[in-house]
Order: sequence, then structure tokens, then C-alpha cells
Amino acid sequence: MTQISSDIEIAKQLLLANELVAIPTETVYGLAANAFSEAAVKKIFALKNRPSFNPLIVHIASVADLEKLATNIPPLAYKLAAAFWPGPLTLLLKKKPIVPECVTAGNTTVAVRIPNHPLTLALLNQLPFPLAAPSANPFMSISPTKPEHVKNYFDGKLKYILDGGACHDGIESTIIGFSSNKAVLYREGSCEIWEIEKITGKLLSASSDSDKLEAPGMMKKHYAPKTPFVVTINYRSEIKKHIGKKIGVLTFLEVEKDEAIFTQKHLSNDNSFKEAATNLYATLIDLDAMHLDLIIAEYMPNQGLGNTINDRLERASS
Ligand code: TXA
Ligand code: MG
Repeated sequence: MTQISSDIEIAKQLLLANELVAIPTETVYGLAANAFSEAAVKKIFALKNRPSFNPLIVHIASVADLEKLATNIPPLAYKLAAAFWPGPLTLLLKKKPIVPECVTAGNTTVAVRIPNHPLTLALLNQLPFPLAAPSANPFMSISPTKPEHVKNYFDGKLKYILDGGACHDGIESTIIGFSSNKAVLYREGSCEIWEIEKITGKLLSASSDSDKLEAPGMMKKHYAPKTPFVVTINYRSEIKKHIGKKIGVLTFLEVEKDEAIFTQKHLSNDNSFKEAATNLYATLIDLDAMHLDLIIAEYMPNQGLGNTINDRLERASS
């Protein structure tokens, strides 16, 4: 049985015993373990069925903890930390030997952030080690934004889910690395590019830099529902290609009811990308549970977080 409650003492005792605990963050739920214990970290890879070449983000309580994990920290990294932590920004920095190789998948960098969730911050403050935590979903599945999503994925296989309610931001953290003192974007996420660029100037793109790869976990097909999934600029013309199928449609804003569609869902009532991001994964998970023949999602307007949502929709499409 997987227990769900908001008792950080239970979470703490399990983590001290090198067990896994699902933790809430402002972005998505994480599957956490003692980052300094190879045995504990290996349990994460085993439970998620995650390939060992895909490194984990390490969650810390304070900027002081950063210096225990990383070295050669550029001034720009400190500026970003001061501006956005606690918050949905992950920094890639040169690792210190204390960080086990299995956490970084053999990379010389370690990914670090301070998450912005009161329960998880309180937990981190009480632990004598940082927490390695990927999103709490099986490899290639949609990231969980509610405790019940985690329970559905790992029921009986995970002892404890620390219940922090629904995640506020709903999309994973933005990942930034550094190359000759310039900031490089590795993954779009909840921390908005234009806000980061106020501090860094124009971000370099990891995928266009021939020396660098995108974050190794950013496989093209990712965050994928089990239901066939297409993303399109116009759902009305797309449904015409699939007459007779049991279709679910996902749009940014509410659209007119259409009898040809089995279910229609929208991401925002308020014309807000932030609201759409918060709702994205939970809505995808709901649609995926409806035994549809096909999910048709319509692209968001291509700006700000709309762009980031479009990135995730493309990775979800089969
Ligand atoms: O918001 C988030 O970032 C959530 C919460 C739980 O913090 N975590 C999350 O973890 O999204 P995960 O494992 O699903 O995605 C982490 C990404 C992967 O694409 C991984 O490849 C990349 O971070 N990453 C981690 N360490 C890295 C490293 N040393 N170098 C390059 N990429 C790294
Ligand atoms: Mg993930």
C-alpha cells in the first residue's frame, strides 16, 4: 500500500533509511532519494524504468548547499539563483566528487535547483543530504502534477507520497547551463525565457551548439499518452480526417461544442498561458484515461509559456 499524507516526519524517516518518497514541487511531483546514496538513487532508476544514461536533478535547501555539490560556479549562476530560487530553474554546474556518478550519469556537470514548495523546503531543511529527484512517472509517461497521479503510476511499489496538493506551475523546470560564461538553454520550462534573459542577455541554444546536446532526457517522444495523439494548428480540419473515431480535443481556450467530438477540454478560462501550463499534464492524464481512439491537441499561440506548452505537445505526439 502506498500511503499519502502531508507528514514530513514520515518522509524524512523513509529518506534517512534510503527509501524513495514522492515529493511535491511547484513544477511536478518528484520521485526523491538521498542524492549521496548510490543504493537509494539506483532505486529511482529501477522504479521508473529509466535508462541509466539519463541524469537526475539534485534538489537543495539553500545556495550554501550549492557549493557542497558544485565547483567553478560562474557569477551568472549566482545571479540566476538569487533571482529565481526557490523556483523552477535548474542550473547545470561542474560537479564535485561528492555527487555520485549515477546521479549525473557520468557527466561532469550536476543539475541543481531549490524547489519552491513549502513542504518540500521544510523537508530539505531537516535532511542531512540533498534529494535527487526526477519527475515521479514511469519513463516516457506524462509527468504527475497531483498526488493521485503518482499513486496511479506506482501504487504498492512506493511507500509514501508527501501530499502537497496540485502543483502550482505544472510544467518541469527550465534548465540552464553555462559555456564560456554565457548562459545556455537546455530545456524550456516553467521559468520564462524572457525573465531569464533580463539577467543573462540572449540565451544560447544547446541544440544549435554543435559541442552540446540537449538535456539527455529530452527525447523527442516523451510525456506521451498511451492514446494516439496528434497536435495540429486547426483541430476542426483535423477531425474531418478521423470521422467515426472516438475523439478527444484539447484546446487553449473553450471552443464551441461539436457533436462529432466525444470530449472537448480546454486549458484556460482566462486566456492565460500560466493557467494552461498548470492544467496541461492533468488534462492529458484525464484524456488518456477515457479510452479514446485519438486525442487531437491544438497548438497554443507561439509566445512565452505557449511555446513551452507547444514543445510538450509535440513530444507527446505519436
Ligand atoms: O521541475 C523539474 O525539473 C522536476 C522536479 C521534480 O524538480 N524534475 C524533472 O526531472 O523534470 P526529470 O528527471 O524528469 O528531468 C530532468 C532533466 C532530464 O532531461 C535530464 O536529462 C536533465 O534534466 N539533466 C539532469 N542532469 C543533467 C546533467 N548533468 N546534464 C544535462 N542534463 C541533465
Ligand atoms: Mg521527467
